[in-house]
Amino acid sequence: MLKHIHLLFVLLVTVTYLYRVYLAERQPEKLQQKWLKLAPHALAGILLLSGIALTFQGDWFNIAYGWIVAKLLLMLVFIALGLLTIKSQGSLRWKAFAGSLAVLFLIAKIAVAKQVFFFV
Ligand code: HEM
Repeated sequence: MLKHIHLLFVLLVTVTYLYRVYLAERQPEKLQQKWLKLAPHALAGILLLSGIALTFQGDWFNIAYGWIVAKLLLMLVFIALGLLTIKSQGSLRWKAFAGSLAVLFLIAKIAVAKQVFFFV
């Protein structure tokens, strides 16, 4: 149940992120809407909380928590690259965008494998 909520918010964060990148490129003025400014924080917050709850539910701190620390840190990298994608323009935007997608993929890979890879 909790895992499904976590996965639902992974999906919501991903889809709304892609939508905001699209808006930033095509209709940047729309990004000024209040709900579009608030929603990403709310969704990422719930994603984080559900991840923390899952950590305790699965007793992961007593088993192996390296991959969870890696996910947390990579989520911060994802947020930073996402911000850079939306705030920057031109080729920097697309480099940051490619980086953010790669980090998202890596987080999902680590989540499924439950161990950290130093190579993809
Ligand atoms: C963009 C961010 C994130 C993505 C894409 C993501 C993705 C996933 C996926 C795909 C799973 C299911 C893996 C499986 O069991 O097959 C999962 C489970 C899990 N995630 Fe995340 N996650 C994210 C953020 C976080 C954060 C920030 C935390 C911790 C604070 C976290 C902790 C966990 C835990 C503990 C599980 C379940 C482990 C179990 O099976 O008991 N996740 N995540």
